[in-house]
Amino acid sequence: MTMNFNAKNMLHSSIFHPTLRQLQQPNVELTPNNFMFPIFITDHDDAKQPIQSMPNVYRYGLSQLKDALAPVVENGLRYILLFGVPDTLPKDNTGSNADSKLNPVIRALPKLREWFPDLVLACDVCLCPYTQHGHCGILGESGELDHVKSVQRIADISLAYAQAGAHIVAPSDMNDNRVKAIKQVLFANNIHNKIAVLSYSCKFASALYGPFREAAKAAPKFGDRKCYQLPPGSSGLAIRAADRDIEEGADMLMVKPGLPYLDILRQIKDRHPNYPLFIYQVSGEYSMLMKAGETGGLKSILTEILRSMRRAGADCIISYFTPTVLSWIKNGEMDL
Ligand code: PBG
Ligand code: ZN
Repeated sequence: MTMNFNAKNMLHSSIFHPTLRQLQQPNVELTPNNFMFPIFITDHDDAKQPIQSMPNVYRYGLSQLKDALAPVVENGLRYILLFGVPDTLPKDNTGSNADSKLNPVIRALPKLREWFPDLVLACDVCLCPYTQHGHCGILGESGELDHVKSVQRIADISLAYAQAGAHIVAPSDMNDNRVKAIKQVLFANNIHNKIAVLSYSCKFASALYGPFREAAKAAPKFGDRKCYQLPPGSSGLAIRAADRDIEEGADMLMVKPGLPYLDILRQIKDRHPNYPLFIYQVSGEYSMLMKAGETGGLKSILTEILRSMRRAGADCIISYFTPTVLSWIKNGEMDL
């Protein structure tokens, strides 16, 4: 029997072998370059503190950091994203300890440079872990963010991280025009050529940050962040935010959270193909996937999701799963 067939409409001949399947997924490989690992650094120097809502994720004290990272670096880790978690350090209205000499990130940066000379060090820049009120800027008398004071403070903290040895500063505060303020301060201090600004450009007000706020002890003490993070239904503001941050000099862009915002990711990549684009698979996504993986199958679920992020336009995925993924990559255990 000869079917009346059109060979052009037959797909199976392209995907019967794992290497051929790889060939059908161009530019979405999962390599160590595509993963950035977020790390929480506590001011208890000897501590390794588990985080209840994030199994397998810890807050590390300075003396625990080297041992924690060395095996991951060994497996190909390229970049980390540092979050300071002050516990004994006092909080105040201007977040003084975000850039004081006692700040755990400021103290860790020179050490990390020395221990891991090839590792790229990014620092989250925000005030919420360091302020009494837990909001991401300086509040004015009305209880709302004071725009001018907040961006100046965010810029000064960025400079402090740059001077302490960061390669990338990543402002997550979402105050308008902070990228411009950061670039101005870096320029004024003649350090602008040695530090990249990764803007959390499209950051939505999300319920998926819940576990992070436990981890970083950075929950707002009153109210919410809806007046400075983007409304989840808005793609218009996300696009304006990315355009604005590019105009102000951002080196790299980000969409956050990840999986629920892949449409935004694709729009931003199409609109700004010349800018490296990051996606943040946030704490709530991590917790959900850990639950989903309890019955087995984490690897295939996660691989599928990570590929979807690459396919939608992510150049780099910020993920708490980075150590796990790097070991799968190294051992040739990724699903194809
Ligand atoms: C703080 C900050 C948050 C995250 C990164 N930086 C939380 C927030 O904005 O409330 C979220 C990260 C995560 O959930 O994994 N500005
Ligand atoms: Zn914040």
